[in-house]
Formats: sequence, C-alpha cells, structure tokens
Amino acid sequence: MNSKKFSLVVKKPIKNFNKMIIVDSDKSISIRSFLLGSICQGISSVKNVLESEDVFSTINCLKKLKVKILRTGNKSYKVFGRGLGSFNSKNVFSLNFGNSGTLARLIIGIITSTPNINLKIHGDKSLNKRSMKSLIVLMAKFGAEFSPKNKFYFPLNISSTNYPIGISYKSGASAQLKSAVILAGLNSYGETEIIEKFKSRDHTENMLIKNNQAIKIKKNKIKKIKVIGKQNLEKFSISVPGDPSSAAFFTALTLLKNNSHLKIKNVGLNPTRIGFYYLLKKSGAKIKFINKRKINNEPVGDIVVRSSKLKPINASKEYYLNTTDEYPILFVISALIKGNSSFSGISDLKNKESDRVKEMQKILKQFGVFSNFKNGKLLIKGKKFIKNKINKIKVSDLGDHRICMSAAILGLLTGIHVKIRNFETVGTSSPNFLEIIKQLGGSFEKEKI
Ligand code: S3P
Repeated sequence: MNSKKFSLVVKKPIKNFNKMIIVDSDKSISIRSFLLGSICQGISSVKNVLESEDVFSTINCLKKLKVKILRTGNKSYKVFGRGLGSFNSKNVFSLNFGNSGTLARLIIGIITSTPNINLKIHGDKSLNKRSMKSLIVLMAKFGAEFSPKNKFYFPLNISSTNYPIGISYKSGASAQLKSAVILAGLNSYGETEIIEKFKSRDHTENMLIKNNQAIKIKKNKIKKIKVIGKQNLEKFSISVPGDPSSAAFFTALTLLKNNSHLKIKNVGLNPTRIGFYYLLKKSGAKIKFINKRKINNEPVGDIVVRSSKLKPINASKEYYLNTTDEYPILFVISALIKGNSSFSGISDLKNKESDRVKEMQKILKQFGVFSNFKNGKLLIKGKKFIKNKINKIKVSDLGDHRICMSAAILGLLTGIHVKIRNFETVGTSSPNFLEIIKQLGGSFEKEKI
C-alpha cells in the first residue's frame, strides 16, 4: 500500500496551454483483465495496464489465492488462468481490497461460486465505510454465507458455496453488482439470467463476448444476459485504453482555461462511460472525438478539447449511469459557470469512496458557491469568480481520489490556495495525475504529513 502520505498545495493558476497527453489506463478494464484472466483456461496477456494502487490490490489478492501473475514488461502482464473454481485459499486467512469497491464486489462474485473458500475480507478506511448489503443479499442467493449475520460493512467473513445455483436478477444502476452476478454465475450450476433495467457499464460483458458457450447477450430494447454455468472460458489478449474518467479532469482544465487546446490520445469511448463529455457538449463545450476505432470490443479514440464558453449544466437522472464517477469534477465546472446547474438522480453518490455530494458541497461552500441537495437533486449556483474574497480551501482526508483531483483542478483554474490532505490516494486510479499537470505547466507543492 502507499505509505508516502502527503498534502497537495496549489497556490497559482495554471497558464494557458496547447499540448498532447496520454492519460492513465482504464481502471475498470484493468481490474477486470486480471480477474477474468485468472478464471480463463491458459495464459492471458494484458498490455498497457493501469499500474495503480487499486490494480496492485487486485494482483495481490489473486496471488494470495495462488494465481500466477507475471509482469513481463512496462505495464505488461501475463495471467496464468487455471479455469473456473481454481482459487485456492490454503493458509490464507484474509484478503485486503484496499480502496477498491470494484475489486471487492467482483472478486466476491468469483469467490462465491468457488468451492471451499473461507476468508476474512476487508478494505481500507474508505471501503470499510461502504455498504455491501446489496452484494451480500445477491451472493447469498447463490449460496454464499457472510458473517456476522446482518452486518453489511467490512470486515466480514465469507464462506463460499460448493453447490452454487444460478439466479435470476434484474440489474439496477450498479455495474459492479451486475458484474458480480455474471462472475458468480460462470461457475454455478444451471443458468443465471440478468435483465438489465438500467444500462450500466458493460466492460465485463465485452471481455467475455467470445465465450458464447458461457454467455449470451440479447440486445433488444432491454438487454438480457444469459450466463451458462460451468463452461470453460478462453484465454485472451487485451490492450487497455486510457481512462475517460481520468481524462475528464484535464478536459475540465482545458475547457475553463482561456486560449487552451488539448489532445488526449487513445482514450476509451464506451458510450456507457462518457456522459460527462455528452453533457458538456450540450453546454457548448468544444470537444471532438477523432481517430475512432474498436479495440478488444471497446470503442477507443482521441479526445480534442478547446477552451469554451459554457452554459450551465443540466443533467437529468438518465445521465447518472454513464456519468457516475464524473460528478465531482462536473460540480467544480458548474461552480465556475455563471448560472444555475442541476444534477438529478444522484443519491447513489453517497456510497462511493466518500459521500461525494456532501463532501463536494463542503468544498463549494468554502469557495463561496451556494448549493442545495434535495430529493436526489443537487443545485449549484455558479458564479463569476472573484478571487480576493476567499482565503483558503481545505480538503480533509477522505480517501477519495476523485474529490482530491477535482479540488486540485479548482485550485489550478482559480489560483485560490487549496490544500488537499492525503493526496496520495489519487494513486488508486491516476498515479500520473501530477506528472501530467506538470506537463501542462501547472505548479504545486507537496507537504509531507
Ligand atoms: C465501476 C462501476 C461504478 C463506478 C466505479 C467502477 C466498475 O460503480 O463508480 O468507479 O468498474 O464496474 P457502481 O457500479 O457501483 O455504480
């Protein structure tokens, strides 16, 4: 785990820039590559992996369960899959998921239907505060047991089932829960059926698509996923694209900085992930997707961004699914656009790495921006920025990478003194964030804690 704790201090606004960057690789796809590689038959190859804390937690957990994983070069790995049900927890007493909800929920999906696993499971301070109730209820339907009974937060004990039976599930907004059900279903007896009520991110399905003996997808108005249990899965080769969620911070910086231009190369453009860009285009943002192509069933391209004059943002609840992780940075953008922006259907943000609405409201308040959260809808009264009224913005230790990066962007755009504690948590998703800020000409100081 990351031991070098530090606060980030931003004091000066960034100057205008015209650059080309490559952002950190996609976190969702990187984590899934290792997990799926471990239950396939044979050696899978994963390239351009995100080498971040959440991904290292994934590799560590899998290695503890006796999966062989080799780093073969810069950001390149081989995963020696031994098939469904092959995790071995001999002499292992606990698994630590660190900060990662994705790792926690997806690996619990696999463990649920892997015979003879009894473990203590837990995460860091932030993950241990996130409810696992929906996951526990679902995995119990397959036959897994969690103790203590009626406790829904880590640390917990899990006992897998030797006789998992497929279930039927109407999936909601969470891709993590949908993926956990798919993964548990792969090693269950019979079939698991998922009816997608809401279109959540579909990387798990995309990575499994060639295995039509194990997973069948019908895409009519409503998507139906049928998982046929106990079928061998084929090894794969994948190259992970850049993360659109990491690119969002640099997009925000460019849009709101005068006379600036940015090209972000090789970013994942899966429609289930890019609500942030759609919303901003609707508000007048000059954003273009170019050089579009498909790699490993995932749409990929370059994002070109220019400084823009933006209208307030109006995000109806339909945007929640493809904008999930980008609300904190959207709130920063809204605070800097004159007028009222609104975001509906965002109650689930309270169960992210922190309570994201509450924590971002605290930051906006220090910035002197009014916001109001009622019935799942956040209203932000953006203002024309007047610097000399504000002294300092402080962000406490939340263990939330996206709030840290959003606050840093606010500082770089306004030049307000912003101090963000435990900024090292950004290493869970975007270890190169500060390097890229430097490349763009931004300055900051690090203070040891
Ligand atoms: C993720 C799904 C989302 C997202 C998270 C990554 C994934 O969570 O917030 O950062 O990789 O499946 P939910 O599915 O719980 O909404």
